[in-house]
Amino acid sequence: MATLLLLIPTLIYLHHLSLAFANVSLNSSLSTDDKHAWRSPSGEFAFGFRLLNNDTNHKLYMLAIWYDKIPNQTVVWSAKADNTLATAPTGSRLQITSQGLSLKNSTGDSIWTSTLDVIVSQGAMLDTGNFVLLNGNSEYVWQSFQNPTDTLLPNQSLNVDEKVYLNSRLTDTNYSSGRFQLYFQDGNVLLSPLAWPSQLHYNSYNVIDASGAASSFVFDISGDIYVETTNGTRIRPQGSTWGNLTLDPKGYYYRATLDVSGVFTQYSHPRNTSTGSQQGWTIMRYLPGNICSAIYNDYGSGSCGYNSYCSMQSQRPICNCPYGYSMIDPSNEFGGCQPNFTLACGQDVQTPPQELYEMRVARDFNFPLGDYEKIQPFTQDECQQSCLHDCMCAMAILGDKTCWKKRLPLGNGRAEKVNDLHFVFIKTRLSRDLYLAPNREPPPAPDSKKDDREKPILLGSLIGSLVVNSILLATVVFFILFKKKSERVVPGAASLLETNLHCFSYEALKRPPGVLVKN
Ligand SMILES: *[C@@H]1O[C@H](CO)[C@@H](O)[C@H](O)[C@H]1NC(C)=O
Ligand SMILES: *[C@@H]1O[C@H](CO)[C@@H](O)[C@H](O)[C@H]1NC(C)=O
Ligand SMILES: *[C@@H]1O[C@H](CO)[C@@H](O)[C@H](O)[C@H]1NC(C)=O
Ligand SMILES: *[C@@H]1O[C@H](CO)[C@@H](O)[C@H](O)[C@H]1NC(C)=O
Ligand SMILES: *[C@@H]1O[C@H](CO)[C@@H](O)[C@H](O)[C@H]1NC(C)=O
Ligand SMILES: *[C@@H]1O[C@H](CO)[C@@H](O)[C@H](O)[C@H]1NC(C)=O
Ligand SMILES: *[C@@H]1O[C@H](CO)[C@@H](O)[C@H](O)[C@H]1NC(C)=O
Ligand SMILES: *[C@@H]1O[C@H](CO)[C@@H](O)[C@H](O)[C@H]1NC(C)=O
Ligand SMILES: *[C@@H]1O[C@H](CO)[C@@H](O)[C@H](O)[C@H]1NC(C)=O
Ligand SMILES: *[C@@H]1O[C@H](CO)[C@@H](O)[C@H](O)[C@H]1NC(C)=O
Ligand SMILES: *[C@@H]1O[C@H](CO)[C@@H](O)[C@H](O)[C@H]1NC(C)=O
Repeated sequence: MATLLLLIPTLIYLHHLSLAFANVSLNSSLSTDDKHAWRSPSGEFAFGFRLLNNDTNHKLYMLAIWYDKIPNQTVVWSAKADNTLATAPTGSRLQITSQGLSLKNSTGDSIWTSTLDVIVSQGAMLDTGNFVLLNGNSEYVWQSFQNPTDTLLPNQSLNVDEKVYLNSRLTDTNYSSGRFQLYFQDGNVLLSPLAWPSQLHYNSYNVIDASGAASSFVFDISGDIYVETTNGTRIRPQGSTWGNLTLDPKGYYYRATLDVSGVFTQYSHPRNTSTGSQQGWTIMRYLPGNICSAIYNDYGSGSCGYNSYCSMQSQRPICNCPYGYSMIDPSNEFGGCQPNFTLACGQDVQTPPQELYEMRVARDFNFPLGDYEKIQPFTQDECQQSCLHDCMCAMAILGDKTCWKKRLPLGNGRAEKVNDLHFVFIKTRLSRDLYLAPNREPPPAPDSKKDDREKPILLGSLIGSLVVNSILLATVVFFILFKKKSERVVPGAASLLETNLHCFSYEALKRPPGVLVKN
């Protein structure tokens, strides 16, 4: 009797193992309104709708597959059409028909289909994380594994003749295709930046060299990743950050994702989430070892966005903005930086540049390539002055008497301590008052947050708070007088302050404060 009682749980366990699918019959459907999803027999993977935003009036969902038993429910697949995420408003419905999967909105218009020209008899969510459609002979006619997004799972492979690839997603929260791709080219496996949003490849930043004989890129059930060649040889990725590890697929979930940053990373997560210690996804190994220096192209921004510089920290690329620049989208570290101010050129600019700008000095980063001037020999001072007085120049880099002048946007930024002769001169607006722009708080007083890596160098003997204050005072008074006298419309209220400044001649500005000038 005792033996029998012990046997029952064992039998149930074996039964669960042998049940490879959770079948989904023809005409079954899921709606954004109901909470249920199609789960694999083990309950580890689910297929269904995931909420994308929290706008109560206009909720949007995506069709996805995710890990259902881990706290963060990481998404491993999402429905895309032409590299764009298929988004479904409230009331949309997914159905399995004899033509395959069909996603329609509440008025019956098609949003997405698994394009097929065969007859489907049922679907199944497998324990491997693969959602499949079967024909009457129980053959797979469609698989989520053969329509990968940014993630590979154990037992999923990319085959050279299926013309499949991995595309990173655009941001952590935007699942549309992003700026990096893993793909086959000439029988090798490459990682390249894309000329987003097109599919044109820029020069690759990592190659798994299969001597032109690659037939598939395999993530096997044990968690090993390699390229299989036409003669069956296995070629593993090379590099110090891609070690040969001891794998434990029974204890851990594995996934391999082409991250938003362009790094191809294998992660592990304990299957038993009640084990207190190591929670969440852990980086096991990744390619390339240093993406910040591996991407080096005439086109494109690099791993970080434009005007941003990249460094490796805790095995991840981190993006930083130069002094006077800030993230374009604070929620997307890889989205690039923009100057806090306007770099003005053209007839409008009558104020001498040294009254508008200063050159900040930094030493620990670089923006190689994309220069528009290379001047030699030049001293530090000549290099700074040259950039300051050139309205096109946003930054200048001096290395051993060579001055490279740079215009926006800047690409290939990387943290780099080159040598003692390396200087970065960043052109920024001189007075903090001039940062004022609509919808923008004035930045904190310069003294409140001093960065000792970047020190201001004051240029011109005229510059001081006295002059700046008098400019501002004179501007306000002048504006009032000017407005009374003439009907001229000030173009672009957004640049009111700047525009008014330009109404002064340099001579007027040089007069002592308090002496008001009527033009
Ligand atoms: C699921 O479908 C497969 C293939 O048609 C079939 O062999 C299996 O018996 C079905 N399983 C269940 C539980 O219905
Ligand atoms: C599915 O729906 C179609 C059309 O409504 C119907 O002809 C067919 O019998 C249904 N199949 C099943 C298995 O319910
Ligand atoms: C939406 O808001 C609810 C409650 O405010 C929260 O529980 C949920 O996690 C949010 N979902 C998303 C996708 O942000
Ligand atoms: C469904 O999609 C069609 C075509 O895109 C659109 O015209 C219609 O307004 C949508 N209906 C709803 C309820 O979103
Ligand atoms: C792994 O994939 C192969 C086909 O690529 C399939 O035949 C096999 O059953 C899969 N193994 C498991 C455990 O799902
Ligand atoms: C994702 O990015 C694309 C491309 O910029 C944009 O069209 C789309 O609206 C974004 N989606 C979401 C949900 O933000
Ligand atoms: C298989 O192909 C690889 C690369 O093309 C080659 O180096 C290797 O010698 C071949 N192995 C066999 C057994 O033919
Ligand atoms: C890596 O490990 C696999 C088995 O886990 C073994 O077959 C292979 O030879 C190892 N490769 C190296 C370079 O040590
Ligand atoms: C998960 O880990 C906890 C704590 O170590 C242990 O008590 C429990 O038996 C484990 N569960 C499984 C299914 O292994
Ligand atoms: C879950 O996701 C959030 C937001 O993406 C992240 O901050 C947190 O560290 C994650 N938790 C785990 C355990 O991975
Ligand atoms: C640039 O703008 C950002 C955000 O508005 C601010 O945090 C930062 O301090 C500004 N930098 C300078 C030098 O003003």
